[in-house]
Amino acid sequence: MSQIEPDKYAVVGDPIAHSKSPLIHRLFAQQTAQNIRYEAIRIDSEELSFAQAIEQLKQEGFKGLNITVPYKVDAFEQANQLTARAQVAQAVNTFVFEADGQILGDNTDGAGLVLDIEQNAKRPFKDQRVLIIGAGGAVQGILQPLLAKQPGRVHIANRTAKRAQVLGERFDTSVPMSASGWDAIPLEPFDIIINGTSASLEGKLPPISEKVLGAHSLVYDMMYGAQPTVFMNWAKQHQPNCQTLDGLGMLVGQAAESFALWRGVKPDIQPVIAAVRKLIQSN
Ligand code: ATR
Repeated sequence: MSQIEPDKYAVVGDPIAHSKSPLIHRLFAQQTAQNIRYEAIRIDSEELSFAQAIEQLKQEGFKGLNITVPYKVDAFEQANQLTARAQVAQAVNTFVFEADGQILGDNTDGAGLVLDIEQNAKRPFKDQRVLIIGAGGAVQGILQPLLAKQPGRVHIANRTAKRAQVLGERFDTSVPMSASGWDAIPLEPFDIIINGTSASLEGKLPPISEKVLGAHSLVYDMMYGAQPTVFMNWAKQHQPNCQTLDGLGMLVGQAAESFALWRGVKPDIQPVIAAVRKLIQSN
């Protein structure tokens, strides 16, 4: 009896050694009984250009890839076809290698965030007042899927006000949107507050007023770690009953969206978030 070879997938980036994606996709494959292999591959741009490395992986028979830091914009430029959400994000985190040799580029980051907030945190966006902090690549990737959920309003605040304004103006939406620097954030409670700055990485807090916090706000940090982030701690300190969540669920959510694109089946993210959480807390 011949054994069927698993379909090959990988995440590419640099650095990549600590990527959780191989574990996440292995758990998805077990859960959905899909015969796949998924590995982490470092692309060292001093050895090989991104385009050359991708061509090589395609020749080796990979069916699809996840693309992470620092290559999401290179991936956007290399794809032959783009999904609408990748086009808006101007960044790609998922490739599908089509049978005819074409590369389809998608961006599942925003869908992953929406999935995590709506299904895991159980906070639908519809009619909610949303405050987004930051206006870099990470925020650019989430805006379109978030706006598609018809929140009541969205305010984007960024250290560099101009960047928030430019980003806000790019979206053609019926959702009322506004943008500002730190000094002009409306001082009223928001229902959902999302920190998309890279400040948490350095353990820093964006200097915003606690007046944006409501007793029942969901305070979400796109970063994650073994401990709650400084941003989550700040929120709890001022509003002990607010709900806080880090970005681990978004990581698992974007992976689930990529997996669904490749395999046609959407895994349940909750048990996988729990398993990855346990692992990072034990390290
Ligand atoms: P990413 O892809 O992670 O979003 P980026 O495009 O460099 O990276 O954007 C980083 C975001 O974090 C930006 O919104 C940046 O603010 P500026 O546009 O003013 O640079 C924000 N950021 C980075 N460090 C910060 C800090 N210490 N405090 C507040 N915001 C910070």
